[in-house]
Amino acid sequence: MSLTVALSKGKLLSGTQELFRRAGWPFPDGESRRLVVPMGELRYLFVKDMDVPTYVEYGVADCGIAGRDVVLEAGSDVFEPLDLGFGGCRLVVAVPAGSAFSPGSASTVRVATKYPRIATEYFLGRGISVEAVRLAGSVEIAPGLGLADCIVDIVETGRTLEENGLEAIETVVESSARLVVNRASFHARRAEVQRLVETLEGAVR
Ligand code: PRP
Repeated sequence: MSLTVALSKGKLLSGTQELFRRAGWPFPDGESRRLVVPMGELRYLFVKDMDVPTYVEYGVADCGIAGRDVVLEAGSDVFEPLDLGFGGCRLVVAVPAGSAFSPGSASTVRVATKYPRIATEYFLGRGISVEAVRLAGSVEIAPGLGLADCIVDIVETGRTLEENGLEAIETVVESSARLVVNRASFHARRAEVQRLVETLEGAVR
């Protein structure tokens, strides 16, 4: 039986494709809309980035590739043996540029985010009471429209923040793409998983 690998259809896809090609694994060309693609010794699942840790934790996939941000937010119980060295970004707290707002001085911070778990833990960990407003995307518009005081979101180039009049004031966590492995597969299919880990490790630059 082939190893099943859950991959994100989002921003990590091109880096993932390049990595698998360098590591010598056949990889779908991206033309198809098929979401389950058997290919050689692997079977690929293409899912939403936030769902990758779920497929791996439940053992539907033996392995997956997800950003550290997504793995932390999912809170899934999976192994994370390898930093794949691409998809680098920061999860930051951002506020309207020039605003005097500081999370530490508010009694309760209302934060718009796709990462309610990470945001809540971050503020509570600093003794700040927090109300997380979960959004599915475009969170940068929330403070300007009065939905939240600040956002916790990913910054890659910084363009989205800048073009929406926000500035990062604190870094919550640094992220990059990670290989995640189901705990049972790690033992039960040790040789195959190990081979995937080693070939990907060799291809990381
Ligand atoms: C992500 C993130 C920011 C943007 C950051 O959004 O949530 O909005 O990328 O990138 P930048 O710093 O290079 O501008 P994504 O493109 O995934 O869209 P979304 O807002 O719909 O989630």
